Amino acid sequence: MPAVVRVEKLTKHYFLESVVVRALRGVSLTVEKGEFVALMGPSGSGKSTLLNVLGCLDRPTDGRYVLGNDDVSRMDDDHLSEIRSRYLGFIFQSYNLLPQYTVVENIEVPLLYQGCRINDKTTKRCIQLAQLVGLGDRLDHRPMQLSGGQQQRVAIARALVNDPQVILADEPTGNLDSKTSDEIMQMLIRLNDAGKTIIMVTHENDIAAWAKRVIRMRDGMIESDELNERPKVAQESVTAAFSENLHSLLSEAIQ
Ligand SMILES: Nc1ncnc2c1ncn2[C@@H]1O[C@H](COP(=O)(O)OP(=O)(O)O)[C@@H](O)[C@H]1O
Ligand SMILES: [Mg+2]
Repeated sequence: MPAVVRVEKLTKHYFLESVVVRALRGVSLTVEKGEFVALMGPSGSGKSTLLNVLGCLDRPTDGRYVLGNDDVSRMDDDHLSEIRSRYLGFIFQSYNLLPQYTVVENIEVPLLYQGCRINDKTTKRCIQLAQLVGLGDRLDHRPMQLSGGQQQRVAIARALVNDPQVILADEPTGNLDSKTSDEIMQMLIRLNDAGKTIIMVTHENDIAAWAKRVIRMRDGMIESDELNERPKVAQESVTAAFSENLHSLLSEAIQ
């Protein structure tokens, strides 16, 4: 399998007045297409910093980062945001939806960033994505009118709208109860089954148990990197239909 993410000797320093915080201290890592990686480690170990660098939301202080075929370590902001909207989808602990927008409008947001004009085709794709994540009867609702789990489903649909190669999730179930967490994880498993590479930060063993590979961080470095021989699996019957629907709706050109 080809590598989608390759980082070498990544460092990230934050400069706070006279103090230097060494958030990443030489991280090297390769993630191949189709992997599902859980990034674990205690609070302050550098998980979010690494995810932000991988997501091109932040630049490393030193080291190399190759995403797909592009060396993104030294790219300027314009180029980085283009790469971000072409390759990456994001899911956050606090959903990060726009409160004044409806479900469908929230799903459209990455298309706007990409400079895409909203038309019948883009709207159709967003509606289909909302249906795919089980929100077909909530299309015109605003985030305030949805439960946490429903809001996270909107965020998942939004992360998919550009057909990204890699989905980055920072504590995606951190604000959810265990039953809802389970539903969200089943959905991520289905995306992974459909071929999406997923890199997910979590500090919960129960959540990491769904991933195929578990990387533990400590003090800004990788402490261990192991395959999960028996990851939890999603319900089989739903999986096949989900992957098929996702492929067919994303295969339709929108511009
Ligand atoms: N914007 C920032 N400015 C200064 N220090 C930061 C910033 N973001 C994170 N840090 C520091 O970097 C270290 C790693 O943080 P983080 O990546 O958020 O850890 P984790 O996600 O594993 O809890 C911590 O010591 C944190 O305080
Ligand atoms: Mg964090």
